[in-house]
Amino acid sequence: MNLEFEKLETDFGARIHGINQSDYLDEQLVQALTVGLDEHGVLLMRGEEISPGRLVELGRAFGELEILPEPEKRHPDHPEIFDLTNVRSDGEVVDYEEPQAVFLRGTERWHTDSSFREIPCLCTMLYALEVPDSGGETQFANMFSALQQLPADLRAAIDGKRLVHSYVYSRANNPGHMEPMSLEEQKKYPPVSHPWIRTHADGRESLYMGGHVSHVEGMDLDEGRKLIDDVLTAATRNQFIYEHHWAANDLVIWDNRSTLHRLRPYEISARRRVMRRVTVAGFDRVR
Ligand code: OGA
Ligand code: MN
Repeated sequence: MNLEFEKLETDFGARIHGINQSDYLDEQLVQALTVGLDEHGVLLMRGEEISPGRLVELGRAFGELEILPEPEKRHPDHPEIFDLTNVRSDGEVVDYEEPQAVFLRGTERWHTDSSFREIPCLCTMLYALEVPDSGGETQFANMFSALQQLPADLRAAIDGKRLVHSYVYSRANNPGHMEPMSLEEQKKYPPVSHPWIRTHADGRESLYMGGHVSHVEGMDLDEGRKLIDDVLTAATRNQFIYEHHWAANDLVIWDNRSTLHRLRPYEISARRRVMRRVTVAGFDRVR
């Protein structure tokens, strides 16, 4: 095995070298990838043609795959793949205000994927097929560093607190109009609470928050929202960020337990951005 991690020139993240898409993902390779994800938070593979089947295989190497809430966005042959695209089924790019665009623009808020689940996901893999030449970057923020360098007064204010995460809430607060979820759908995603400071299996601690958060448990609503804003601002300072500028055939894998991410705006109704996504389920509750 020639797997190598080349550290990026930012606070975190690494580029993977040495995997061929025909390589069998044996235990040793999978173990190395898992350790690499723990260590670097964001992993990047460039210039590889990755078929939908191989993407599913790469995802499964890390664990079970999540099936995302929106059935119409699933890949026809692989329901585990989420077609993240601003190109409609008729081949035209979306209008700015149509639901598909509004949904995509929702990811421009700092968030961590599926934090609204009782057991949130482990990591997400995003594979680029077509990308705009400018705009549409993805930013990642390192929540280990953010917690370590959080001003002492904020650290004291969040100590022991829990945040309530809700899919119904984050969808309702999308930056544009989306059809409200039916009551039946809403029942599938009841609000959950997770500790604001997350303790990882190896004992390290990070912030755990983001766009699905509706409020601070047991705290006055406005006071809680202000605290959330203040912590998020401190946690997403430049020094904690890696901004990924996409090229076609890039695969980015990010650890949702210890990073936040957001899409940067692009001309969504003029430039094509076509990606495939798989999401690896988590193993245990947030502690
Ligand atoms: C997502 C997401 C960011 C992007 O799919 O969850 O945040 O750059 N995507 O498309
Ligand atoms: Mn996301």
